[in-house]
Amino acid sequence: MSRTVYVNGTYLPEEDAKISIFDRGFLMADGVYEVTSVLGGKLIDFAGHCKRLARSLSELDMAAPATDDELLAIHRELVAVNGVTDGMVYLQITRGAPGDRDFVFPDPATTPPTLVLFTQSRPGLAGHPAAATGMKVISIPDIRWGRRDIKTVQLLYPSMGKMMARKAGCDDAWMVEDGFVTEGTSNNTYIVRGNRIVTRHLSSDILQGITRAAVLRLAAEARMEVEERPFTIEEAKAADEAFFTSASAFVMPVVEIDGAALGDGTPGPVTARLRDIYLDEMRKSAI
Ligand code: PDD
Repeated sequence: MSRTVYVNGTYLPEEDAKISIFDRGFLMADGVYEVTSVLGGKLIDFAGHCKRLARSLSELDMAAPATDDELLAIHRELVAVNGVTDGMVYLQITRGAPGDRDFVFPDPATTPPTLVLFTQSRPGLAGHPAAATGMKVISIPDIRWGRRDIKTVQLLYPSMGKMMARKAGCDDAWMVEDGFVTEGTSNNTYIVRGNRIVTRHLSSDILQGITRAAVLRLAAEARMEVEERPFTIEEAKAADEAFFTSASAFVMPVVEIDGAALGDGTPGPVTARLRDIYLDEMRKSAI
């Protein structure tokens, strides 16, 4: 069945949605995005996503095409008209379509940003079977650009990384730079030693995950120890547990890294507990 999508002020069937071939998102990956989860028809951590979106836009000197309240109304309308119970809302803002190809940024007075939103229905999103069995990851070099803190639509290398993982019979890839894990292709990464959770500190090397922020806050509230520092693949292989977080996977256990099983090869108790706490709290605060 055709979805209703949103393009620059208009709700329309997906097959009627059109973007200019001169759009800078299409020609130059000159755009940013957010993915907000929907559970029980409600948005998870919407305020966090709005805050990061504003930061991404500001770092790229792009104007916001709508207020947070307007974006909330659009998210809610799309969730409602498409009957999404569990799934995601994808939002993308590009620097617009100046009507020609040019490296120089167009004048925002004459070239407004492009705003697109659509839903992805994923019934049972929070009950993904891998949450019980865990995922397998490989390590790959991180060859992305240096501003990974900006959530841009330049996703070719992460996409290639997922394909490398698939080719190796695995689920995802953890990227490594200067000997240390940066993040997963589309998630933040963690290892667990005893009751201590280790995850890379924030910098321009990684995306400031909205799920990461919530999970670290909830872990501290649950009196778990959190250490924010880089770790190596060797350290990860020797850890008791590992997991990753993202808006669509929540807290996802990792049971194998580069062919080495972690612990007994099944998801560990710290990961399982964090996933439960996270989902519980997020369902409560969903809007
Ligand atoms: N990806 N790191 C990268 C490189 C990401 O692409 C993502 C999210 C994250 C986790 O961020 P958050 O917790 O805010 O989702 C970390 C989204 C889900 C995606 O591209 O689909």
